[in-house]
Amino acid sequence: DPQFPTFTRQEVARHHSEASRVWVTYGSDVFDITDFIEQHPGGKSKILLAAGGALEPFWALYAMHNQEHVLEILQGFKVGQL
Ligand code: HEM
Repeated sequence: DPQFPTFTRQEVARHHSEASRVWVTYGSDVFDITDFIEQHPGGKSKILLAAGGALEPFWALYAMHNQEHVLEILQGFKVGQL
């Protein structure tokens, strides 16, 4: 997608806390979810476990995320691609 900048996994990994902003990946997309952390229905501590890395290992365990409305929320925070 040419409309979004490209980041490496190493760059994403630097965004692992609220001070550095919290980024995650899903597939080859990169999201800045900092502004969603406080609203997460599963709590702040859980969502921060994925900070700086991929959502897939966590969402494999918490399958309630595999719904259209959850993916729509995520899409709204897209900032780039891998
Ligand atoms: C629930 C979004 C990351 C754990 C939810 C729900 C949403 C959501 C919308 C409510 C789903 C529903 O009931 O229809 C997100 C987004 C994430 C994220 C956008 C990442 C950007 C995570 C991670 C974990 C997690 C990484 C675990 C390590 C949970 C749990 C619930 C939940 C346990 C159930 C809460 C309850 O119903 O009591 N999440 N989530 N989430 N999430 Fe997440």
